[in-house]
Amino acid sequence: MPTIRLGALASGGGTNLQSIIDRCEDGRLDAEVVMVISDRLEAGALERARKHGIAALHVPVAKTGTDEWLEADRRITDAFLEARVDLICMAGYMRVIGPHLLGAFPHRIMNIHPALLPAFKGMHGQRDALEYGTKVAGATVHFADPDFDMGPIIIQAVVLVREDDTEATLAARILRQEHEIYPQAVQWFAEGRLRVEGRRCVVEGVDTAARISIDAS
Ligand code: GRF
Repeated sequence: MPTIRLGALASGGGTNLQSIIDRCEDGRLDAEVVMVISDRLEAGALERARKHGIAALHVPVAKTGTDEWLEADRRITDAFLEARVDLICMAGYMRVIGPHLLGAFPHRIMNIHPALLPAFKGMHGQRDALEYGTKVAGATVHFADPDFDMGPIIIQAVVLVREDDTEATLAARILRQEHEIYPQAVQWFAEGRLRVEGRRCVVEGVDTAARISIDAS
């Protein structure tokens, strides 16, 4: 199986990034992370990248829609093109990606969101589900498109909400699922199984229903 070249965008601690790096290194993922870009200089994700000998770049990103934001979008796009990445993983990236990046990597940018999309888009998926009172929560990996948390869904995982859950306990169980489904989505991409048809993403040769994990702990 040929190995694909991965780029990552991250703003925070980077545990999702780490789960992908670990699986690349232990051979469970036919991929290699070659560049990590963060809008935050102090992001743990950059530190994790450096530890693994991966190019780590800080690109400050201005307010969405401004000229400076477009300029950052262009810099990020150029860096990933230069690194010849096949796929970009947004891994806890808290900024809106721009038109240059989307145009240069059509259906080659994935995002992970800590809720069962299309419910609870935005910055606080876990808290919003808890406050709304849903009995199930979860995580979604999807292709990015110009609208935040909106592109075709690749895989989801379900986490049952407990009566005594707090935002932190629910988020922790969701995060455990994120660390499984993100590498899975990347592996399907590496195997050439993902085909986008309108809003749907078909995973060729896989019974996706049989792959839905349900955390009932
Ligand atoms: C995850 O919950 C992810 O779904 C959300 O931000 C969090 C990032 O966590 N978008 P980490 O930086 O991967 O640890």
